[in-house]
Amino acid sequence: MKWENDNLSNDIAVSILQNTEKLHRLKDVNTILDRILTESRKLANADAGSIFLLQDDELKFSYVHNDTLFTKAESSVELYSSFTVPVNERSIVGYTAKTGKIIDIADAYDIPDNLPYSFEPSYDRKTGYKTTSMLSIPLKSFDNRMVGVMQLINAKNEQRQAVPFSKESLIYVPLFANNASVAIEHGVMTRELILRMVKMAELRDPSETGAHVQRVGAYSAEIYQKWASNRKLDNGHIRHNKDLIRLAAMLHDVGKVGISDTILKKPSRLTEQEFDIMKWHTVFGARLFSNNTSDLDQMSLDIALNHHEKWGGAGYPGHVSHITGENLDICVTPKKKEEIPITARITALADVFDALASKRSYKDPWPEERILSVIDEESGRHFDPEVVEAFFQIFDIIKAIQDKYNSDQV
Ligand code: C2E
Ligand code: SIN
Ligand code: SIN
Ligand code: FE
Ligand code: FE
Repeated sequence: MKWENDNLSNDIAVSILQNTEKLHRLKDVNTILDRILTESRKLANADAGSIFLLQDDELKFSYVHNDTLFTKAESSVELYSSFTVPVNERSIVGYTAKTGKIIDIADAYDIPDNLPYSFEPSYDRKTGYKTTSMLSIPLKSFDNRMVGVMQLINAKNEQRQAVPFSKESLIYVPLFANNASVAIEHGVMTRELILRMVKMAELRDPSETGAHVQRVGAYSAEIYQKWASNRKLDNGHIRHNKDLIRLAAMLHDVGKVGISDTILKKPSRLTEQEFDIMKWHTVFGARLFSNNTSDLDQMSLDIALNHHEKWGGAGYPGHVSHITGENLDICVTPKKKEEIPITARITALADVFDALASKRSYKDPWPEERILSVIDEESGRHFDPEVVEAFFQIFDIIKAIQDKYNSDQV
C-alpha cells in the first residue's frame, strides 16, 4: 500500500474507534442504532439504511434512515413501522442472518436467478424509492453471537447517483459493525433490565404492561425532541436528553412497587383515603434513584417524583400536606409551571394520554376525540401549553407509536 493510502486508512481506523467509544457511552438502543446508521452511512456514502435485530428467531425491523424519503430520520413515522422478516435464505437480510455472510449487490433489480435470495420490491413500489446498490452486513457480537443485520442502500458518487459500494466500504463498514454490535447488545440489555424492573413493580397490576411503559417512553422522547427543537436547543443536548428521557419515562411508576395489592388491583374507584396512599408512589419511586450516581438517575428521580404535578399547581406530591408534612429523605415542595422539571411535564402528558386511551381495572378506554379535547382543555391547567403544542405537532408519530406497541409484547 502506498504511503498516502496508509495514512488515509489510519484516519478511518481512528475515526471508527472514536465512534465506537461514543456508542458505548449512549444508553438507549434507539440512540445506538441511530448513531450506527449515521456512521456506517458516512463510511459507505450511502443514501439509506436500516437495521433489523434478531428477536425470537426473527429479524425485527428496528431502525431506518433515508435521506431521499425523509430528512429528519430521528423523528419520523417510519421509525415506528413494525414488521419482521424470517431468518431464511429467501430474503437478503434473512440470508445474511442465516449464513453470517456479507452480501454486496450492485443492482437489486438484477440479482442472478441462481442465487437463493431475491429482492423484495414492495417497499420501493409503496414509496417510489429506487433501490439500486445494497450492502447487507451481519451484526455479530462476541463469540460470533448474531445480533441482527444492517442493510445499507444506494452508495452515492459525487453526482449523487447510485453506484456499487466501494472496496473500502466493504472493509470498513463491517469493521465498525462488529464493534457496534457489542453496543447494541448493551442497549438491548439496558432496555430489558428496565422492563424487568417495571414488571417487578407492576407484576401485581395486570393493567400495567411492558407495552404501556414502552409507549410512555417513546411518546416522551418524541415530545421532548419536538419541544426542544421548537426552543432551538443545541442538537447535541437534545440527542443526549432524548436518549435519557426514553428510559427515565419508562420508570415513572416504579414506585407502585410500594403500594399494596388491595389498592393497586382495586377494580373500582379508589376512596379518598386509598388515593392518598396511592399518591406515595411518586415519593417511593424517587427514593429508588436518590443515590443519584448518573444523569439517568437524576432524570428518573425528577420524573418519578413530579409526573403528577400540574402546570397550574395543585398536583401531588408537592401540594399534599400528608406527604409534605412528613420528615422525608426526599425534598418535596409545592411546584407549578417551570418549577416542575420539563421531563416530568412531558411524562405527565404522555402518561395521561396513554392511561385514558387504555383499559384499566377501573375504566374503559376513552374515544380519541374525548381524550384530545380533555388534553386541549387542560392545556395551561394540568399540562404545560408548550408541551401540549409539541404533542399535537407530532400527533402522527404518537399514533405510529401507539400502533407499534399495541399489545403486551415488548
Ligand atoms: P393510571 O391509571 O395510569 O393513570 C394515570 C393518570 O391518568 C391519572 O393520575 C389521571 O391523571 C389520568 N387518568 C387515568 N384515568 C382517568 C380517568 O378515568 N379520568 C380522568 N380524568 N383522568 C384519568 P392519577 O389520577 O393521579 O392516578 C394515579 C394512579 O392511581 C393511576 O394510574 C391508577 O394506577 C391509580 N388510580 C387512580 N384512580 C383510581 C381508581 O379510581 N381506581 C383504581 N383502581 N386505581 C386508580
Ligand atoms: C401507570 O400509569 O403506569 C399505571 C397504570 C395502572 O396502574 O393502572
Ligand atoms: C433541557 O434540559 O432540555 C432544557 C431545560 C429547561 O428548559 O427546562
Ligand atoms: Fe403515576
Ligand atoms: Fe403510567
